[in-house]
Amino acid sequence: MDLLELFLFILPAYVANGAPVILGGKTPIDFGINFFDKKRIFGSGKTIRGFIAGVAVGTIAGTLLAYFPQFMPGVSFNDKILISFFLAFGTLIGDTLGSFIKRRRGIERGEESLFTDKLWFLIIALIIASPFYNGKINLQLIDVVILVIMTFVLHIAFNRIAHAIKLKKVPW
Ligand code: CTP
Ligand code: MG
Repeated sequence: MDLLELFLFILPAYVANGAPVILGGKTPIDFGINFFDKKRIFGSGKTIRGFIAGVAVGTIAGTLLAYFPQFMPGVSFNDKILISFFLAFGTLIGDTLGSFIKRRRGIERGEESLFTDKLWFLIIALIIASPFYNGKINLQLIDVVILVIMTFVLHIAFNRIAHAIKLKKVPW
């Protein structure tokens, strides 16, 4: 896949990952409950509203993108939406699992963790959506490598912007 195709393909996941920063709520997914290690299961940064908003907005983005032929070329309109939903859903599952791992490793909410913050959501989204895009979109290993690099770079850029315009307290 070329760079534009790859970027558009993963855009629903990016949108799903960013939406909770603006649309996140109060009630945490773990309801404030601690795990066996007496640390929070996911932490206060993972809210129910943020999760739902991320999946919804990511799917809406995919639905709008579905009108463009450069978005998942050769895939039917309905499948584009279906794949977008699972990319968005996978993103939020990955994001939540990432926080679970961070808490187990004793990393506080908002504290940076290179791999879990920036790439975990991408890997999980690609895995969870794969049954729906396999056979329709030809994602090669090199594409995944490019996605990893692209996500890493864009994540740093976007979080710095979000920090600069005071959407986020920390620049990561
Ligand atoms: N957010 C949310 N619900 C989610 C995910 C994110 O409300 N399911 C919001 C929270 O306000 C969160 C912000 O988006 O603080 C940024 O998300 P993220 O960087 O993923 O969370 P952190 O606060 O850094 O927490 P963690 O250390 O667990 O990653
Ligand atoms: Mg964070």
